[in-house]
This record gives sequence, structure tokens and C-alpha cells, in this order.
Amino acid sequence: MAQKTKMIVDKDFKIAEVDKRIYGSFIEHLGRAIYTGIYQPGHPQADEDGFRKDVIELVKELDVPVIRYPGGNFVSNFFWEDSVGPKEQRKKRLDLAWRTLETNEVGLGEFAKWCEKVNSQVMMAVNLGTRGTADALNLLEYCNLDTDSYYADLRRKHGRKKPYDIKLWCMGNEMDGPWQAGHKTATEYGRLAAETAKCMKTMDDSLEFVVCGSSNVDMPTFPQWEASTLEEAYDYVDYISLHQYYGNQEDDTADFLAKTQDLERFLHSVIATCDFMKAKKRSKKNINLSFDEWNVWYHTHAEDDEHMLRSPWQKAPHLLEDIYNFEDAVLNGLILITFLKHADRVKIACLAQLVNVIAPIMTEENGPAWRQTIFYPFLHASKYGRGYALQPVISTGCHDTSCHENVSDIEAVAVFNEEKEEVTVFAVNRNTEEDISFEADIRGFEGYQVKEYLVLESDDRKAVNSAVSEKIKPSQKTAYTMQDGIFETVMKKCSWNVIRFGK
Ligand code: AHR
Repeated sequence: MAQKTKMIVDKDFKIAEVDKRIYGSFIEHLGRAIYTGIYQPGHPQADEDGFRKDVIELVKELDVPVIRYPGGNFVSNFFWEDSVGPKEQRKKRLDLAWRTLETNEVGLGEFAKWCEKVNSQVMMAVNLGTRGTADALNLLEYCNLDTDSYYADLRRKHGRKKPYDIKLWCMGNEMDGPWQAGHKTATEYGRLAAETAKCMKTMDDSLEFVVCGSSNVDMPTFPQWEASTLEEAYDYVDYISLHQYYGNQEDDTADFLAKTQDLERFLHSVIATCDFMKAKKRSKKNINLSFDEWNVWYHTHAEDDEHMLRSPWQKAPHLLEDIYNFEDAVLNGLILITFLKHADRVKIACLAQLVNVIAPIMTEENGPAWRQTIFYPFLHASKYGRGYALQPVISTGCHDTSCHENVSDIEAVAVFNEEKEEVTVFAVNRNTEEDISFEADIRGFEGYQVKEYLVLESDDRKAVNSAVSEKIKPSQKTAYTMQDGIFETVMKKCSWNVIRFGK
């Protein structure tokens, strides 16, 4: 019998206010993310601009404050000028990253318009692979300036009077990766990022910049890459990016769910590197973390490689269409808990991606849009995880897995929304063998009662959703007690739990 887990939740144990941008996401010109994803003129659900209303509704349900665009690897050979102006004059281009055909029917202006429809802000990436500072400056002038100058005039000529006013800018994408068009050494890249951010700030002082960190924790240049790029760019940027995807290739669920231990180590290493550089530079400023690509990604690797090799240069092929199962959703819940535990430094995070491509939302070309299993932990965290993240004081049992030791049975964190007088506990029982008794002591929140207890539970860890059946969806749990500020329940093995307390 596993040890009972006890958690104390108190409003004085504040980690930091949750930056709502940790519920960001990502849309790349890749596969069917754009074409037949967010945009499909002629579909019964298309609106007057060709955007699918069923997708808009699902994105609004997730309440995503920022969306990174247009890549990803795609951005490293993207010529933004091809994507603006009259549609019939737009150039078709070859996308080197995914070996597909980009028609540019949807470009900057259309995407910005779509973001307005889903109540999101654009997080714009510039091409620092095959292009550089001058093009980034032209793009910024086109997007944000109201001056009487060439690119601002061009935007007006294209029908958009008001600037787009994009505040958050990524200085390229995964520039440490040899696969990247225009891949650079850390010092080359750091210099370019610094000079580009410096010049862009001259145009608009209110911008924030994300410099590229490593493409993943296993890159041979990690964490020297972070140190070297920050050596050059520290004074000009605000965030450093982290990317990480997980998989259960070994079909070992217990070990798969232990992988947020690796994520913890990754976060600690990047924070330490940023703070080392802060000390070295005698700087007063912190560099915070933008975890701008995270998810499970492994189900389609083999067929995608095959597809890109055998049938290149197609428009919107089926790429990276991972179908997520129940355990993938549980891991995503663990990742979200980890970000909340680091709310003092993780200020931006983007679930990669949003529609059709490694995504919580899928579309049928001749049918509806639907929710994958991973839709739900994200939805719960985005909806109820706004306010102050509270330090989890937990005593829980531990277990070992094939590659991890001392893995906590229950991972949990609480978020206090002062304005709504609500506190929410997010918890995962990642013990795959045993249900576990769980007690939350919320006596510090006088008069609070359980508003709702939501769970994702399944006896089938490989269960998936589809356009016609939603096997994995949240249900209300009523098997709990609440007395004198002590909440008690039994958390089912391998489950996602959301306990909402309110006055
Ligand atoms: O999200 C898919 C790809 O993963 C992105 O284009 C790239 O940045 C990362 O390697």
C-alpha cells in the first residue's frame, strides 16, 4: 500500500503570480496547421475570411493568450514579404524545413486577423537563419510603426491602417540545430540576436525579446550554448527559449510519467546559467524563461520522415498528426504542474502546437473539429490556473522506474485566484500500480468549500479520442470528504485531478 499523500495549501506560500502567457501555444506553417486547419474557405464552418468557426470556438475555449508564429523551423527561410499584399500576386515558395509547398494564401495579415478572432496576441519569430537584421527591421516597421515611411505605408496600402502592435519577438528558432537553415555557432548567433534586438528596440522601446536557447536538453552544446549566446545578448533580450518534447517509445508508462524529473533538471540548469551570466555581467536584470515548444511528440516520427522523403513539395500534407492517448494527457498535466511550480521564472510557455500538428485540436477536412486527450489538462490549467502559484508543501511516497529514482507518487501545485476567491489544486497520481489516499489541508482558506472536483481517469492508458468518439474527457468526482478545512479523497492510479475550492 502506497503512503498517504498530505499537502498543505496556504496563501502565504506564494511562489509568484502566474504569467498568463504560460498558457500560450504555437502555429507553424507546417502540415495542416494553417490550410484545412485554421483556414479552409469552402468548408461549411468557414467564416467570411475563410477561417473555420469550429476551430475558432475550440481555441477560444482554451483561452490562449499568445500564439507563436510562423515557426518553428519554417521561419528560418521565411520571406515575410511574400505573405502580404494582394493574394493573387503572392509567390508560392518551397519550405525547406518540412519539404512542402507554401502558397502564402495565409500570411502575416490573415494570421493577425485570426488572432484577433481568438482573443490572442501574436508572438512573432523573425528569420535569423537565411536572413538577418535588416529584414527583421523591415518586418517590424511593417507590423508596428505608424510613420510616413516605406514599410508602414505598404501595410496601409495593403488595407491595414492601424499597426498590429506586436510586443513579443523571437530572435529566430533553434539556431543551435544543425538541421536549421542558416544554423550558427553560439557566438555567431548571439552577436546577430543582440544586434537585431538592439536595432529593433531603437524603433520600438516597448518590445520584448526571446533569444534562442537549446533545441532540447540533449543537444551536445547544452548548456554552453545558453552561456555563450547570453554572453553576447544579455543586455538586449528578456527571455531565453527552452524546447522539449517527450515520448514513450519504450512503452513504459511509469518511466514516461517520471520524465518531468528531467524537465525539473532542465529548468534548474537554464535558470542557473542565466543567473551565472547575470552575476558575470553585474546586471540587475533577470533573464526569464520562455518554454516556447513543449508537448509529447513521437507517434508519427517514422511516417513523417518517410512522407517528406518520398513525397516532397506538396501543399498541406498530413504531417506530425500525432493522435494522443490517455497517458500523454497525464504527462502534459505533469508538465503544466512543473511550469506552475516555477512560476517565478517561467513566464511564457507554448504548447506545440495548436491545430492538427502535434495538437490538442484536430480537424477533419470534410468534417468537424475535435478535441484530443491533451486538450483537457491544458484547458483546466488555462481556466483555473491564473492567480498566484502557491508553494506545494507535500509529503508523498516515492517509487523508482527503469530510468528514474525517487519519483514522487503525487505531483501537485495550487493556484490562488484572489479576485475570484478561488483556490485550485492540480494533482497527478503518477503511480501506475496503486490508487493513493490524498489529503489537502486548506485551513488557511477560511470558509472555502469544494466547488468542483474534475478528473481525467481511464483504465486504458492507450485510449484515444477521434472525430466520432470522445473516450477521454473530464468527469466530476464526488468521492471525497471535506471537513474543517481538510479535503480527503483517493486518487486513482495514473490520473489527472483538479480540485476547485471557493468561498
Ligand atoms: O514543432 C515542430 C518543430 O519542432 C518546430 O518547427 C521546431 O522548432 C522543433 O524542432
